[in-house]
Amino acid sequence: MGQKIIGVVAVIIGIMAMSVAHGQQPDLDAQVSRFLNNARVSWNYLNVPYEDGKILHDLVLKGNFKHILEVGTSTGHSTIWLAWAAAKTGGRVTTIEIDKDRYEAALDNFKKAGVVQYIDARLGDAHDLVPALKGPFDFIFCDADKDWYIQYFRDLEGKISLNGCFTAHNVLGWSSDGKKFVEYVKRDSKFRTYIERGSGEGISVSCRITK
Ligand SMILES: C[S@@+](CC[C@H](N)C(=O)[O-])C[C@H]1O[C@@H](n2cnc3c(N)ncnc32)[C@H](O)[C@@H]1O
Repeated sequence: MGQKIIGVVAVIIGIMAMSVAHGQQPDLDAQVSRFLNNARVSWNYLNVPYEDGKILHDLVLKGNFKHILEVGTSTGHSTIWLAWAAAKTGGRVTTIEIDKDRYEAALDNFKKAGVVQYIDARLGDAHDLVPALKGPFDFIFCDADKDWYIQYFRDLEGKISLNGCFTAHNVLGWSSDGKKFVEYVKRDSKFRTYIERGSGEGISVSCRITK
């Protein structure tokens, strides 16, 4: 009997050790997914759809990205997906929002989701804050003012590391500025650009292929 219990405990410890080795944190995973599932129908401040958040999360994991920047926090839906991925890669997310009420709501959501320690949330105008960022970044998600996407890319392109990616939301559909941005970035031979079609809104992904 005693040996049986020791065997079961050893198996549990083994499973926990394997989870940690693969970057999974069972308590955090449970807390974040519970929060995201509960909040799924209540995001309404121009937040990304659930599916798009998952695409961002999976891209970060696939590239093992650690130095993450988001422009346009709103109340924090995409940020939470990015931070959840950062928790698994050993990374951190810097995110910028100009609207004080949304910024404060986002801080509250980060605490509730359990990801606050993976996020550096900044309140301010990204037109001023972005050019002053030091970088380098290996993953950028741009989801603020669409008519400034090209300028954000110009300000950040030199700070994106090799194989790092600049992603932008709403590049299909309603925003003509989103489409103009894709035409612009596709002409940049230092980056390879494709569109994530799993997103109804369209997420462009431009990854640096040469210095
Ligand atoms: C589409 S929403 C972002 C949604 C967010 N990514 C999410 O999934 O929850 C765009 C946000 O960008 C913010 N924004 C617009 N222009 C900005 C600027 N110049 N600097 C910082 N934030 C800006 C808006 O206030 C708005 O909250």
